[in-house]
Amino acid sequence: MSIESSYAIAHRIAGLNHPQSYVDASGHPVGTKTTMIQDAQLYDGDYAKRLAASQSNSQSSNQSSNQSTSGSGISGLAHAAVNAIGSMAGSSKDTKSSSAPVMTSNFGFPVQDPTHSYNINGHPLVSDTTLMEKQQTFNRAKIVERAVHACGSGAFGYFEVTNDLTNLCKAKFMDKVGKQTPMFGRFSTVTYGREFPDSARNPRGLAWKLYTEEGNYDILTVNFPSFFVRDPTMGPDLIRSQQRNPNNFQVSLDSTFDFMSLVPESSLTNLWFFSDHGHPVGWRMMDSYPVHTFRWVNAANEGVWVRYIIKSDAGIKNFTWPEAIKMCGEDPDFAKRDLWQWIDQGNEATWTWYVQTMTDEQASTYYVDPFDATKRWNEADCPLLELGKIHMNRNPENYHRDVEESAFSPGRLVPGIEPSPDALLQFRLSFYMDAQFYRLGVNYHQIPVNCPFMTKSYHPSARDGAMRVDSNGGVEPHYFPNSATVPPPAMPVSEYSNWTVKHIQGVLGRQSHSRSAADPKQEYIQATEFYERDLTEQDRINLVNNIAVCMARVTRSDIKARFLIQMYKVSPVLADSILTQLLVQDPKAKDLTIEKIAELSASCIHPSDPQNSYAPMPIKL
Ligand code: HEM
Repeated sequence: MSIESSYAIAHRIAGLNHPQSYVDASGHPVGTKTTMIQDAQLYDGDYAKRLAASQSNSQSSNQSSNQSTSGSGISGLAHAAVNAIGSMAGSSKDTKSSSAPVMTSNFGFPVQDPTHSYNINGHPLVSDTTLMEKQQTFNRAKIVERAVHACGSGAFGYFEVTNDLTNLCKAKFMDKVGKQTPMFGRFSTVTYGREFPDSARNPRGLAWKLYTEEGNYDILTVNFPSFFVRDPTMGPDLIRSQQRNPNNFQVSLDSTFDFMSLVPESSLTNLWFFSDHGHPVGWRMMDSYPVHTFRWVNAANEGVWVRYIIKSDAGIKNFTWPEAIKMCGEDPDFAKRDLWQWIDQGNEATWTWYVQTMTDEQASTYYVDPFDATKRWNEADCPLLELGKIHMNRNPENYHRDVEESAFSPGRLVPGIEPSPDALLQFRLSFYMDAQFYRLGVNYHQIPVNCPFMTKSYHPSARDGAMRVDSNGGVEPHYFPNSATVPPPAMPVSEYSNWTVKHIQGVLGRQSHSRSAADPKQEYIQATEFYERDLTEQDRINLVNNIAVCMARVTRSDIKARFLIQMYKVSPVLADSILTQLLVQDPKAKDLTIEKIAELSASCIHPSDPQNSYAPMPIKL
């Protein structure tokens, strides 16, 4: 990336005359002299130093300051603001060396004594604007928390290509072995709130953001290879079934087991949830699966279906259930602390990114529907091709700015990476942005951690909205096409592959188009493989105990019975083992016998009727 173009981009995005800088978001050399993220992070403690350094450097490259495109009207003023804020607002690490003579209000008003309000005989005055500003900001300090994945932490780092897969994908960030791309990663639990203990039973989220030269590429993943549902309309139901009861606001295992037992396609993911994968040892020791199928397209516009598996180099390590419970009490922030300390001690947390592929033909004959998010692609069937390594090596400086205000979306793709006809993915592509418009506002792309600071081209046609402070298109006409400006060249249509057109033909209606729905066996076969083939003997014992302990807290026998029917369809041995353990945990469950469960299982395809709004199978005990 040339200095000039990156400068112009930075200018367009932030509407500021950014000084040149020699470090990037990850503190990692990326071959560019201007980085949006740190320049835009005005509260960076090194800002004043870098500003001074850049002012001397910029003499040699200052043609860039004449490069303003849009929004130049405000740039001089903004530059002055940057100078002022940059020189006085040091980070906590930098406080001593800061040149700030006194503390001030947000607007620069000097506060003589920051420990006393303005008062008459101890009676604070509402005319103390600094006090009001401080308190009123405090009152509004918490922003809307994520509807899911609220509890988490993150780190910066980079991705490095280690294997040439350009024959499969034309995305520029992977066009050369050794190429590095700055990254941010956020790790989270899913269904509980911001303050829930890190080690509780839950899926984990791993969200990756690559700041590529073709814009940001987000990869949202969980630590399970499959998901609970495949139709987006069941998404909120699934999440609520693992959240607090609307009546008494308590975490409800009745709801969790009830929903799971009624959704046959969730059987594989249910086993992952109740296995020790439900409580990994921190963020560093879990694998990362986007769950969905994507399409990779190469320079010749040839496509191939892909799934990713991003494997922790530290290896998967899970707590047992008793260990997890203990850690929830001892250190509710364990996972956050573990990653932070690891990086703080100079280590890197690393993952290797692998890709599995399928041709159209392979996809049409695979033993499960390869576009069904509730199913996985076996490694033995689709060998892993290494793509590169993710390195997380820098802790955020400010949690609110870097982590809380970060935002990821499966729709944030780059040329060469396209969606598949997976119904859940198709809907997820767009609704995340809606969640973020609500949570952060329509201009959240300006928040430094979300800013596409490495992009070579930047010319959005979206305009205005609350808090828009970048160039906002400047003096350009705000409609397109127009005859006043030469538009930036658009990406040629030939750069897109057109598979979608071929696939979106059919009849409108509310019915499943998943191959799995037409073949009931598909709903259990991979759960059986996971139980019988993938788990060790000890894993199986732990899985059974975990389910039994949780099931003992379920109050309704019919829910227990339906879940046991599902387990019976996975494996009669599994159902029998759970029931035996359940009776140890909960002797009151003696109305359930394995003979009864076997009989009920034989009488139904599933414990619910997916053809009829998943109506529950009536159970009489
Ligand atoms: C059933 C459908 C799903 C629904 C309704 C749903 C909903 C959401 C919502 C509302 C957010 C918060 C977005 C924000 O405010 O920034 C979110 C975040 C997230 N989702 Fe989903 N999700 C679904 C499925 C999935 C799947 C299949 C995956 C991955 C395999 C996934 C991974 C994530 C991750 C990792 C985050 C957190 C991103 C971050 O760290 O900020 N979700 N989801």
